[in-house]
Amino acid sequence: MPTFDAICLKKNEDRRLRGGHLWVFSNEVDVGATPLTGLVAGQAANVLDADGRPVGTALVNPRSLICARLISRRPDVEPSVEWFLGRLRSALSIRERIFDQPFYRMVFGESDGLPGLVIDRFGGVLVAQANTAGMERLRPKIEQALGQLMRLEGLLWRNDAAVRDFEGLGRVIEPGPGRVPEKLAVIEGDLRFEIDLMASQKTGWYFDQQANRQRVWPLLGDCERVADLYSYHGAWGLGAAALGAAHVDCVDSSLSAVNAIRDNARANGLEERVTAVRQDVDQWLDEQLATKVRLDAVIVDPPAFAPRSRDVKAALTAYRRINEKALRLIRPGGLLVTCSCSSHVFEDRFLDLVGKAARHVDRDVQVLMRLEQGPDHPVIPAMPVSRYLKGLVVRVLETF
Ligand SMILES: C[S@@+](CC[C@H](N)C(=O)[O-])C[C@H]1O[C@@H](n2cnc3c(N)ncnc32)[C@H](O)[C@@H]1O
Repeated sequence: MPTFDAICLKKNEDRRLRGGHLWVFSNEVDVGATPLTGLVAGQAANVLDADGRPVGTALVNPRSLICARLISRRPDVEPSVEWFLGRLRSALSIRERIFDQPFYRMVFGESDGLPGLVIDRFGGVLVAQANTAGMERLRPKIEQALGQLMRLEGLLWRNDAAVRDFEGLGRVIEPGPGRVPEKLAVIEGDLRFEIDLMASQKTGWYFDQQANRQRVWPLLGDCERVADLYSYHGAWGLGAAALGAAHVDCVDSSLSAVNAIRDNARANGLEERVTAVRQDVDQWLDEQLATKVRLDAVIVDPPAFAPRSRDVKAALTAYRRINEKALRLIRPGGLLVTCSCSSHVFEDRFLDLVGKAARHVDRDVQVLMRLEQGPDHPVIPAMPVSRYLKGLVVRVLETF
């Protein structure tokens, strides 16, 4: 039985944790009683309230602003291979009940009781991110547990996310057990997409929008002209084309993404209907607005403009500018599908912003659907930042 070090919280700093949150911030720790400096980044420690009562077990990082993340509400929980197996089995079993095909986010960090760990599943191949010192340290146990859980063809550690900087971890891509092919396939609806893993972003696929795309595609099928802005591999746009949209412009600033759109359009027999342009979306919108062309639908799915809370103000301005331009480009009666994956921009604020953007360019709109991250990205009620993706399907009214 290991001896557990402890982190003692200041008075009342246990309240948020007892209410369901999982993070301890360094300024909440009574460092006089339990100095953080004595702890090793990534180790397990008990979290105690100001009266010494246990709050749970956490993985700690004295170097990080989030200095501890709860892995259990019980003390003295050893993150062993068996413990991981339990957590991973729970995460996998709910995905298997929800999804027909083995393509999804299999582990979504805190939301699956595995803070800092992300695993995406592409059939028998897994692409993982260890985004905290705790998960980094426990990688061998995670690999062992995954090997026991499923028939694992291969695992890639895509540990090059910027969030690792906050944990004092380097950015590196490393193979895990098994063999990972250079190209992975994802099946979405009737489409098959190939991903070149080394040239791809993050873990390779934006699974968080999978359910939204399938919900919205049918609305786009009878469109004459659609724009898929910030398209990455063109999943929104190719789906629209496959259902009958006559012409889809995909726009992304990444060359590898644009090449992937072209390859995937060809592979799915859609090359006649899909064009892929490497350009800044803002610029592309300006160019289109200077012409007489108006579109039937525009999808706006940008990267997080506000990755940190202090970026919110600038992000709101950026969302507003892009949405105003997109709305001006849509013909009366057309559709705007607009999204934000900024965890700090909450849904109501985004709705308000889109409404104001519409009025500012003299359009009246109605919201047809509200979108959110798929069920493979579960939400922790007490952690609003875990509910990071929001979207709206909006119709521009013809007359009002
Ligand atoms: C959230 S991802 C889009 C996901 C995609 N819509 C999907 O469903 O798979 C954001 C994309 O925006 C691209 N991007 C970032 N800044 C851009 C810009 N200023 N202009 C065009 N594309 C940009 C990135 O390369 C990335 O592919």
